[in-house]
Amino acid sequence: MMAHGALLELSKWLSATSLSREIQTIGWVIPTLQTIHILCVAVLFSSAILIDLRVLRVLQRDVSLAEVARRFLPAIWPVLPVLLVSGSLLIIGEPRRALLNTTFYLKMTLLLVAIALTACLQWSFASTFWEKRAGKSVAVLSILVWCGILFAGRWIAYTEIG
Ligand code: HEM
Repeated sequence: MMAHGALLELSKWLSATSLSREIQTIGWVIPTLQTIHILCVAVLFSSAILIDLRVLRVLQRDVSLAEVARRFLPAIWPVLPVLLVSGSLLIIGEPRRALLNTTFYLKMTLLLVAIALTACLQWSFASTFWEKRAGKSVAVLSILVWCGILFAGRWIAYTEIG
C-alpha cells in the first residue's frame, strides 16, 4: 500500500481538481452516486447470495445449480464496472474519506476475493465439486465475504480517517 504521505498528497491533489469541486458543490451529485452505488449493490449482492444459497441447498433445491448460475451470474459482471465508476467518483468527491481509511482497503481486498470466488463458480458450476462439502464451504465463505464487503462499505463513513 502506498505510504500514508503519498496518499495524503494524492488526496490533496484530487480534491483540488475541478471534477472534485463539481462533485463537492453540485448538491445532487453525491446522493445520486450513492443511490446508483446502492442499487448496484442490491443487484450484485442478491444475485451472488442466491447462487450460494442454491449451492447450500437452502433455496431452489429443485432447480439445477447450472440453471441458477445461468440466471444470476449475468447480472453480476456488468454491475461491477458501474460500482467501480460510482465508487471512484465518490472517492474523487471526498478523497480523504476513502483513501486514508483502512476500512476502504479492507473492502477492496474482500472484493478481490469475492470476484475470484465468483469467477471460480462461473468456470465450474457444472462440476460435481459444488455438491461436495468443499463446494459448500466455498459457498459459505462467499456469503461471508459479500457480507463483509457490505459492512465495510457502510463502515467507511464511521471509521477514523488515518
Ligand atoms: C468496485 C469497486 C468499488 C468501489 C471503488 C467502491 C467505493 C465506495 C465508496 C468510495 C463509498 C463511499 C463511502 C463513504 O464515503 O461513506 C462506497 C460506499 C458503499 N459501498 Fe462501495 N465500492 C465498490 C464496490 C462495492 C461493492 C461490490 C459493494 C457491495 C457488494 C459495495 C457496498 C457499498 C456500501 C454498502 C456503501 C455504503 C453506501 C452508503 O450507505 O452511502 N461497494 N463504496
